[in-house]
Amino acid sequence: MKLPNAESYRIKMVEPLHRSTRNEREDWIKYANYNLFNLRSGQVFIDLLTDSGTGAMSDSQWAEMMLGDESYAGSTSYYKLKHAIKDITGFDYFLPTHQGRAAENVLFSTLIKEGDIVPGNSHFDTTKAHIEYRKAHAVDCTIDEAFDTTLDHPFKGDIDIDKLENVLKSNPKEKIPLIVVTVTCNSSGGQPVSMKNMRDVSALAEKYGIPVYYDSARFAENAYFIKIREEGYADVNIRDIVKEMFSYADGMTMSSKKDAIVNMGGFIGFKHKDIYDKASVFNILFEGFITYGGMSGRDMNALAQGLYDGTEFEYLKTRIEQVAFLGRLLKEAGVPIQYPFGGHAIFVDAKRFLPNLPKEEYIAQTLAVELYIEGGVRGVEIGSIMADRDPETGLNRYPDLELMRLAIPRRTYTNDHMRYVAAALINVYERRDKITKGLRIVKEAPILRHFTVELEKI
Ligand code: F0G
Repeated sequence: MKLPNAESYRIKMVEPLHRSTRNEREDWIKYANYNLFNLRSGQVFIDLLTDSGTGAMSDSQWAEMMLGDESYAGSTSYYKLKHAIKDITGFDYFLPTHQGRAAENVLFSTLIKEGDIVPGNSHFDTTKAHIEYRKAHAVDCTIDEAFDTTLDHPFKGDIDIDKLENVLKSNPKEKIPLIVVTVTCNSSGGQPVSMKNMRDVSALAEKYGIPVYYDSARFAENAYFIKIREEGYADVNIRDIVKEMFSYADGMTMSSKKDAIVNMGGFIGFKHKDIYDKASVFNILFEGFITYGGMSGRDMNALAQGLYDGTEFEYLKTRIEQVAFLGRLLKEAGVPIQYPFGGHAIFVDAKRFLPNLPKEEYIAQTLAVELYIEGGVRGVEIGSIMADRDPETGLNRYPDLELMRLAIPRRTYTNDHMRYVAAALINVYERRDKITKGLRIVKEAPILRHFTVELEKI
């Protein structure tokens, strides 16, 4: 018999979870203004809101916490992290930040000015918000295949080279401070970018003299997909794949809360000292001195170890197979999801799940609320609420994909939890015809509105 997949770790500490009744959940979500960010964690049974900062650290990471050096300047923790970043990514220079969006804030303060254009592959919401906050424009150059959730394509995170070249050709070089490649591409469904595409983007960028930065939150999951899907990489070690990926970039922003499996932290990696020097000024201004940048020494130690944990093949296989396990349960029941399965999450195609609901009634948010009421499972909307209004016209933006994401924290839940999630969502799917009314917004912030939006049932 072929031996099945099994976790590459065992559990040493547990945290109790509490179930609730449907009546309780109906009250709680109403009180939360139908915004799942407003729920208390104790009101959630299985929390798939995000895979960010919600993973379980390893015994080695906890051991590193005890060795943290809390010196303001020049701590051993800083040098340990510097060494790990060089070893894993190849970047010579780095700045620590408290999380990924802080890395974006520092880097974009250095590079972007009003009126600039930043092409990329479905920029993540904070990335796009940091671009638009500077009155610059994020231009999406993702391949069209990414927007058809039924299509089987191994690298739906790829950038369309023709779309990118059009942007580079039709704008003056001074207006394009950087290209952002997100690996894996969260907004298109946790989809990977192929090595070939990274190489092609790099060659094109070089031709036009534009730097390329990777939004690298899930770089290791991307490397795993390259290993199992891209020709020529089956026998290449994950760490060598990672090194090659980053060799095509001028730098990276990192939310360490994902693939480095820590609860808080981030950094920027740089190939060039001149940009590092310029960014250092903003780092000191916004984050802290350049040898801690918003992180405590113990957290830098855990992060350094996490970079090694997160790039182990066996761990990545366990992780991505668990996501696929949930994906298969849903797919077999006919639930419409982004296919192939993402690296960190399953993305449910809400428009196909609830085809009778008009887009003005926030389809994916309605679905996320229904799933919570059904089983106490918290997912998140990646759709028209998250897309915000157009900063120029003030009109709602309706992205091609209206998704509900079920993001799976790393090393945290078991496959029985996945079975429970699938059952709850399948129950909602079976009563989908009865869901005929959605939600309306009663209060919203001008930017990143999904975090604080207040809604009511129509
Ligand atoms: N880039 C990507 C691709 C992300 O997914 C995130 C965060 C960030 C940047 C920002 O990093 O949260 O550390 O400031 N994504 C989380 C999520 C929040 O749920 O997908 P951060």
